[in-house]
Amino acid sequence: MGADSFSAEAPVLGPGISEAVEWAGLVVARAHGMHLTQPDGRRVTDLMGAAGVNLLGHSHPGYVQAMTDQLQRWMIGAHGSDAREDMARQLRRLLPGQLDRIQLYSSGSEAVEAAIRLAKSATGRYEILSFWQSFHGRTMGSLAHTSGARSGLGPPMPGSISAPYADCAHCPLRLTYPGCDIACVDLARDVLREQSTGALAAVLVEPVQGRAGNVSPPAGYLARLRQLADEHGALLIADESMTGMGRTGVVFASDHPDVRPDIMVLGKGLGNGYPVSAVCSSLELMQRGPFGAPSASSSSYGGFPLACRAVAVVAEAVHDQDLAGRARLLGERLLNRLRQALAGLPLVAEVRGQGLALGIELDITGKEQLRRVFQQLLSAGVLVMTGGRTLRLYPPLTADEAELMAAADTLAEVLRRHWGEK
Ligand SMILES: Cc1ncc(COP(=O)(O)O)c(C=O)c1O
Repeated sequence: MGADSFSAEAPVLGPGISEAVEWAGLVVARAHGMHLTQPDGRRVTDLMGAAGVNLLGHSHPGYVQAMTDQLQRWMIGAHGSDAREDMARQLRRLLPGQLDRIQLYSSGSEAVEAAIRLAKSATGRYEILSFWQSFHGRTMGSLAHTSGARSGLGPPMPGSISAPYADCAHCPLRLTYPGCDIACVDLARDVLREQSTGALAAVLVEPVQGRAGNVSPPAGYLARLRQLADEHGALLIADESMTGMGRTGVVFASDHPDVRPDIMVLGKGLGNGYPVSAVCSSLELMQRGPFGAPSASSSSYGGFPLACRAVAVVAEAVHDQDLAGRARLLGERLLNRLRQALAGLPLVAEVRGQGLALGIELDITGKEQLRRVFQQLLSAGVLVMTGGRTLRLYPPLTADEAELMAAADTLAEVLRRHWGEK
């Protein structure tokens, strides 16, 4: 494999891949922990982490061993297996009590799609409320609830309603928390009063908006959405594809007594790179409508043993090694380090985040400037994720603290060197 094989692929691959992957143009020969190694031996610190997928770190020894062993024994078919039993046992220790059943799928979009189907099935209704700047996937149902990706694709799924998210740094009501008393939820209530036909099946929300730039809503926001869903007799779906399994410093960002989602979607880090996602809910909801009928919610790969083994290893590590606690601690230190190092830099509008899902929002106008920042960082050996005007950082939850701080220092040094003055 030559170092220029990224461009050698170009005549074959279709356009439309991730902008950050395209800008990076990287070819990777092997990877370990938080590092990617190119064919010529150069190393890159991977803070992109496939946008939150790399939970345990690249080539995690326990993961590689368990997956290799499973691959050698059996991988095709959704029959019962020790892998699935193990997965069920490990997930049970993490999941909130009300979510006692899981169905497996292959991608976050597919699981969001299944969650919408489940909500419609259980309520007999068809409207879904989601939020501005959300990302829930690109299949047609999830796309209806994904901001900025619909243009040119015709009418979205009927019954799709959206209202502003609690993005306090860019409050659509120009209010300030806590004085606002989370007025954006009152606005969502007004939107429903105007637009709903009385058939609201679910409120669909990211507990932290990932693609929008790792935007955390204020305390109490999710509980207000719970109330809003209850007022309408609707379900609450927490899409924890990015936030789940410890990423934001708690195992699940929506696991709170005042929130108690009826349905949770998991993906990304759930399989640490093996494509597996899940819909978690209760038996009562799953068997209420057509969702629970024979073959009504299956997929070709759902529940295959390699996927189950991947989830079992991840869930065991998250539980036994308190990876959520680690993400919280490391995340606080990383956030402080970045805030200090970037303070006063005109390029930087905000440094934010929870756990190991951080965002550096830039004060820029166009994509070209974002691309330049991204590529300068990569030249210095630091790979980040992008989203809107934000650099998004998703180190593995197992990251070595000294390496992480060194990467933060490099990042800050590059931004200061090139964009120190406006
Ligand atoms: C919150 C959320 N939901 C769903 C998805 C879609 O997942 P996938 O790309 O695996 O289809 C994503 C992907 O970024 C996501 O962040």
